[in-house]
Amino acid sequence: MGISDRDEGDMTDEVRVEGERVVLRDPRPEDVDARVRWETVEIEWQKWDWPCEGPPPMTGEALTEARAWWAASIAASIAQPLPSPRKRLWVERIGGPLLGSVNQYHYDPEARVIHVGVAICESAYWNQGLGTEALLLWIDHLVKELDLTCVRTATWSGNHRMVRCAEKCGFVVDKVRRGSSEVRGERYDGLDFILNQEAVSKRREVHHETQT
Ligand SMILES: CC(C)(COP(=O)(O)OP(=O)(O)OC[C@H]1O[C@@H](n2cnc3c(N)ncnc32)[C@H](O)[C@@H]1OP(=O)(O)O)[C@@H](O)C(=O)NCCC(=O)NCCS
Repeated sequence: MGISDRDEGDMTDEVRVEGERVVLRDPRPEDVDARVRWETVEIEWQKWDWPCEGPPPMTGEALTEARAWWAASIAASIAQPLPSPRKRLWVERIGGPLLGSVNQYHYDPEARVIHVGVAICESAYWNQGLGTEALLLWIDHLVKELDLTCVRTATWSGNHRMVRCAEKCGFVVDKVRRGSSEVRGERYDGLDFILNQEAVSKRREVHHETQT
């Protein structure tokens, strides 16, 4: 999960997408501590995220160096213009800590199709519906910004939380890549999910209704 996701693009006002329990927002300098934590001590999420093999936790001098590197990287990232729509927004628990991020990749403007991802890096917050809320907020935001016809996501069959999260968002399996992923010595299927045009149109209608 990179944080240097800046592109050529217009400088825009801060983006903030509020839900009931989480908010999606732009990065801030004070996010450094959480970002370092997710690369050093709180790293269980990396075993489930793509490609499911995180590095070992850092300690001592390596940790100090990592902290300095992330601080500089985030500061540099924040100093640049942000693209519109964003490539990534941070997920924060309302009244609580930073939890992770949502992202988008492989946007095809002609077909109006986009791929999305989500990572709740704070494992104590898993299985409480927060990843699903964050992903739904993100999809609604992108549908509104990009007039999409289709949204896609992907995971591997051993990631039961992500499979269920995708289902709860309305995704259906579009393609199964049998045995395409090896995770910690076991073979799993790669799963491509699609939120089809009808489902996307419904989400767009909801937005029009809430805006009028
Ligand atoms: C995947 C992830 C985003 C989901 O977010 P979350 O907040 O944990 O998800 P939710 O609580 O909304 O939904 C999780 C669902 O999985 C279910 N679940 C958990 N463990 C399960 C298991 N072993 N088998 C089947 N279902 C399981 C939960 O019961 C819940 O479903 P329910 O609401 O119907 O009860 C989050 O767990 C995460 O970031 N994990 C690490 C990084 C990652 O895997 N990212 C996705 C990369 S593709």
